[in-house]
Amino acid sequence: MDKFLIEGPCKIKGKVSVEPSKNSSLPILAATLLFDKPVIIKNLPKVKDINTMITLLQSLGSKVTFSKDKRNVEIINKKKMKTFASYSIVKKMRGSFLVLGPLIAKYYNSKCSLPGGCNLGARPVNYHLQALKKLGMNYHLKDGYILAKSKGKLKGTTINFPKISVGATENTIIAASLAKGKTTLKNCAIEPEIKDLTNFLNLAGAKIRWSGRTCNIIGVNSLKETKYSVMADRIMAGTFCIAACLNKGDLEIQNVNPKIISTELNLLKKIGASIKTTDNKIFIKGPKKIKSIKNIKTKEFPGIATDLQSQLMVLMCKAHGKSTITENIFENRFMHVAELRRLGAKITIKNNKALIEGNTLFKACPLMSSDLRASIALVLAAMTAEGVSQVDRIYHLDRGAENFENKLKKIGVKIKRLK
Ligand code: EPZ
Repeated sequence: MDKFLIEGPCKIKGKVSVEPSKNSSLPILAATLLFDKPVIIKNLPKVKDINTMITLLQSLGSKVTFSKDKRNVEIINKKKMKTFASYSIVKKMRGSFLVLGPLIAKYYNSKCSLPGGCNLGARPVNYHLQALKKLGMNYHLKDGYILAKSKGKLKGTTINFPKISVGATENTIIAASLAKGKTTLKNCAIEPEIKDLTNFLNLAGAKIRWSGRTCNIIGVNSLKETKYSVMADRIMAGTFCIAACLNKGDLEIQNVNPKIISTELNLLKKIGASIKTTDNKIFIKGPKKIKSIKNIKTKEFPGIATDLQSQLMVLMCKAHGKSTITENIFENRFMHVAELRRLGAKITIKNNKALIEGNTLFKACPLMSSDLRASIALVLAAMTAEGVSQVDRIYHLDRGAENFENKLKKIGVKIKRLK
C-alpha cells in the first residue's frame, strides 16, 4: 500500500490549479445512462472514483472512449443495456448507487447492490428509495440487492425530502428527467455539483428549473447528443486555501470560480487570511497569527462544507486560542481526531462537537488515513509538523484528489510517495 513521507514544517508559495470536481462528475456520468445518443463529458478529474464509475458504466454496456490525455470521455450506450450494478463495484464506491435512478427511468428495472455503511457512518439510502418509489418504482431487498421495477415510464409527482440529501436529490432529478409529466422536488440539496448536473441535463434537452430548494422537472422522452465540461472541485480549492493559511503561505489558486466557496472564504478572512479574487482565481495569503473561531458548524450548501471539516480542524489546532467545530452532516466524521492527537493536538469530542485547544506545535509521527478528506487533513497537518511524518493508507486520498503530491511539491512541500 502506498504511503506519503512528508517533511515539515513547510511554507507554501506559488500557483496551483484546481482539478475538476469528482462529486460533480459522478452523478453526471451516472446520468449518461439516460442517453441513446453519444455524450461527451469533458474535464473529468483523474482519480480512482471516476475509474470505478466508468467500470460500472462499462459493466452495464456503455462503450467508453477516453481522449488521449484521459480528461474527456465519449460514452455511447448499447441499444440493450444491462441493469445489474454488482456488489463488487458498489462496495468500492457508494456513489455507484446513483445508477439506480437512470436505470429505472430508462429501462424500468434494475438489480442494484445496496451500499453498506462507511467510515463516516451508516449512510442509508432510504431517501433515494422513498423518492424513486413515489415516482413509481417498486422494489424489495434480496441478498443485499435492491430489486427494482416500474410499470413502464415513471410518473411525475411532488416529493418533499424529509432531510436534505445530495445523493437522493441527484438520483431523483436524474430519474424524473425522463418521467411522464411534472415532478416537483422540495427541500432539495442545492450544492453547486447538483446545479452542474442539472446544467448538463438541461443542455441535453431536459426541462429542469430551480427556485430555492425546490426543483421542478418536466419529463422529456429522450435526451440529445451533448458535450459538457465539468465544473472545478470546490473542496480541493478550499483545501488549498486552508493549506495557504496554515503557515503564512502565499498561493494563487487557479481555475475555480471563487463564488462557489464564498462561505469558506469568509471564514478564512475571519481567521486573518488576506484574500483577493477574480472570476476564476483566488489569491490568498495566510495570516501571521491565525485567529481562532468559536463556533464553526458544517451545514448543507451554502453552509460550511462537511468535506472541509477535517482540514479546518487542522487549521484550528494551529490557531491562537480555543475553537469549536460542530459536524452536522455525518454522525462519525471525527476519525481524524485520534490521528491529530498523535501529532500533539488537544481536541475533546462531545457528541458531534469538537473542542480544540489551539496553539499546537505538531510533532511528526506515523499517521493512518481513514477516508478521503481525513487523509488530506493529515497531509496538511504533517506539512506543519516538525520532522518527518508518514501518512499511511493513502488509497483513500487517491480516490478523490488528483495528483495531490505533485501539486504540493510544486508549491514547496517536501512530500514523497512510497510505493
Ligand atoms: C455527498 O454524499 C458527497 N458524495 C459527500 O462527499 C459529501 O460529504 C456529502 O454529499 C455531503 O455534502 C458525493 O457527492 C459522491 P448526503 P451523499 O446524502 O450524497 C443522510 C467526499 O469526501 N442520509 O447529502 O452520500 C446521510 O447519512 C464525500 O467526497 C440519509 O439518512 O450525502 C448523511 O448523514 C464524502 N438517508 C446526510 O443524510 C439517505 O437516503 C447527508 O448525506 C441519504 C442521506
